Amino acid sequence: MRRPVRIAITGAAGAISNSLLFQLADGSMMGDDQPVILQLIEMPERMEALRGLAMELEDCAFPLLHTITLHDNVEEGFNNAHYAILIGARPRGPGMERRDLLEVNAEIFTRQGKALNDHANRDVKVLVVGNPANTNALIASRNAPRLSPSQFTALTRLDHNRAKGILANHTGANPQDIDGIIVWGNHSTTQFPDLHHARVLGEPVLNQIDDGWYKNEFIPRVQTRGGQIIQARGVSSAASAAQAVIHHMRDWVLGTPSGQVVSMGIVSDGSYGITKGIFYSFPVRCNYGRYQIVRGLQLNDFSLQMMKTTETELLEEKAAVEHLLPAETAASHENLSICLRSGVTLYADGTGPESASKYLTTNRVM
Ligand SMILES: NC(=O)c1ccc[n+]([C@@H]2O[C@H](COP(=O)([O-])OP(=O)(O)OC[C@H]3O[C@@H](n4cnc5c(N)ncnc54)[C@H](O)[C@@H]3O)[C@@H](O)[C@H]2O)c1
Repeated sequence: MRRPVRIAITGAAGAISNSLLFQLADGSMMGDDQPVILQLIEMPERMEALRGLAMELEDCAFPLLHTITLHDNVEEGFNNAHYAILIGARPRGPGMERRDLLEVNAEIFTRQGKALNDHANRDVKVLVVGNPANTNALIASRNAPRLSPSQFTALTRLDHNRAKGILANHTGANPQDIDGIIVWGNHSTTQFPDLHHARVLGEPVLNQIDDGWYKNEFIPRVQTRGGQIIQARGVSSAASAAQAVIHHMRDWVLGTPSGQVVSMGIVSDGSYGITKGIFYSFPVRCNYGRYQIVRGLQLNDFSLQMMKTTETELLEEKAAVEHLLPAETAASHENLSICLRSGVTLYADGTGPESASKYLTTNRVM
């Protein structure tokens, strides 16, 4: 039996966590031979609710659930964490502008980035779920000068799964027979769900569907799915978000199935002309705990335009929080190509291998 790993989760008494924690404790995320220690973090006023949830987890008698600890602050809650899933965020309140939302969340994720830097395990893997997820990931990562930006990711797997589900429904295919879907850009309504490289049972999807349906129905439906769910349920997607978290972390840690491509919000290394240093959703493959961007895809003018639109929104979000991004981490976020190509972790404080190191000459581009 393996040694337990420590998984810290913020927003642990919220709706997404209510689904997530039970799947996490039953081995769905880290594998059925990996015991877990859950370090659950909430706002002080939600600690009683969290205590109740912890009792329920205990009552499931999960063999893999080693320990549960409860915390009302991230400094304690992130202590030695191997994985951190940042779900807790401030939702948009009445009369709140997008800029205000960015600002209040920026404060939360600045503190969380610093706490990860100071208290988490050196090799911690971080997934940001709380919205605006890409920009929150940027803020956390820029506030963690000792960690590598490649240790931070933002959740766009829900959008990826939504695209796959809607396409499966339309074509009558089983979701497991669909591959090559890509979600580019921001987890927002500007995202680009790209089917140009997708296949159903090995056959290109775009040969099998109507171009008008793809551009006028499919793309907007995926882009606005979150809003449609809020309209129908009165609250935002929770169970599907939890499932996407499981898929994202499982693939990152245990590897994507052979030949499969998934979408992850990661720091841009300039691939496909996307501005370096922003958190943008790219097609990736994972193995041995690393992700690597899929390279060499042919992009037509339509795709390039769609990718640009969502990039522009991310640059605007970045500009709105620029005053909260420490200058000292700017360079590390813009010089990652070696790290992302080779899979070797270069820590932001420069204590990773030298760029001239012989270990970095392997070109593992996939
Ligand atoms: N990236 C995605 O695909 C995706 C999908 C769905 C939801 N979301 C986002 O995830 C977030 C959570 O969604 P939910 O449905 O679980 O919301 P929720 O309101 O049910 O739960 C959020 C919980 O976070 C806690 N919290 C808030 N700030 C905190 C902080 N600083 N530290 C610790 N805990 C904190 C709250 O007390 C609350 O219990 C929202 O921002 C939502 O927009 C993202």
